[in-house]
Amino acid sequence: MTFSAGLDALRTLPSFSLAHYPSPVEPLSRLRTALGAAPRLLVKRDDALSFGFGGNKVRKVEVLAARALDDDADVLITTGGVQSNHCRVTAAAAARLGMRCVIVANGEPPPRPTGNALLDRLFGAEVQYVATREERVPAMEAVADRLRSEGMHPVVIPLGASTPLGAAGFARAVGELVSQLDEPPDYIFHSSSSGGTQAGLVAGQVLYDLKTRVIGISADEPADRLRATVSGIVAGLGELLGMDGHKLAAARPIEVDTRFIGEGYGVPTEASLEAQSVLARTEALVVDHTYTAKALAGLIAWIREGRFRESDTVLFWHTGGQVGVFA
Ligand SMILES: Cc1ncc(COP(=O)(O)O)c(C=O)c1O
Repeated sequence: MTFSAGLDALRTLPSFSLAHYPSPVEPLSRLRTALGAAPRLLVKRDDALSFGFGGNKVRKVEVLAARALDDDADVLITTGGVQSNHCRVTAAAAARLGMRCVIVANGEPPPRPTGNALLDRLFGAEVQYVATREERVPAMEAVADRLRSEGMHPVVIPLGASTPLGAAGFARAVGELVSQLDEPPDYIFHSSSSGGTQAGLVAGQVLYDLKTRVIGISADEPADRLRATVSGIVAGLGELLGMDGHKLAAARPIEVDTRFIGEGYGVPTEASLEAQSVLARTEALVVDHTYTAKALAGLIAWIREGRFRESDTVLFWHTGGQVGVFA
């Protein structure tokens, strides 16, 4: 099968639309001036997606929601940290679909839920807490078994909806971006963690035959592991689209930059604090310290390192997470 047949398969994958598309693409002219930046800077506003406070998870969950409906599911079970954006979007999707939602959150139950934890409850999700990341998958399986024994039809959505099906939502987003611009950007910068967003973007580059370099700025994962995860999801997406998955995964380098993690997941760094502040003050856009501020810090560092040409167009894919500032 050729890549163009894969593209046809991608276009016809069922999806349950939750938001209005396309998300806007806007110039970051004042940020560019403030940074004395050489390249043209653009932002893709997935933070502004019109569903459940937006973010990249909306695109992934739409494809998984269509499959869940097709499977006659009545409960969505998922997992993440207490302040997970993914859990919040899944809870919102369950509400919209008329399904129950059970979240297995690793961490302490907050004495007063804030940010995403507050929204999870507002959307009607039941939250079960486990102490460690390792307990998440077994706890989800246990919830699913219990609900099945009660006659329910639960579907387990893995961490970050980072499955080949979830990544398909992002591969499609590449087509959306192409339709918004005269020329595709030379670079896309975005936050990368459970790998599904980057896998979708990389697969999209191949399927839409773009030369764009996709740079995933790691929020927490070491380079080798993140690259392997992304590559595995791209291969799985290829199979899903009836293609040679390994060929699809090998068609583009998977580029990650892990220099902006700092002390770890969710811990602000000097660079993320600067990135958050400069973007808010120049463009009135908000990024969070766990994901998007670190991704923007990465882009700013690349600018300062002189890695771009003046003729380059660099797009910052804002993957959301702004609810995190209210945590
Ligand atoms: C706001 C935000 N940006 C980026 C990411 C990273 O996306 P992915 O998990 O698909 O790598 C996430 C989730 O993990 C997120 O919530």
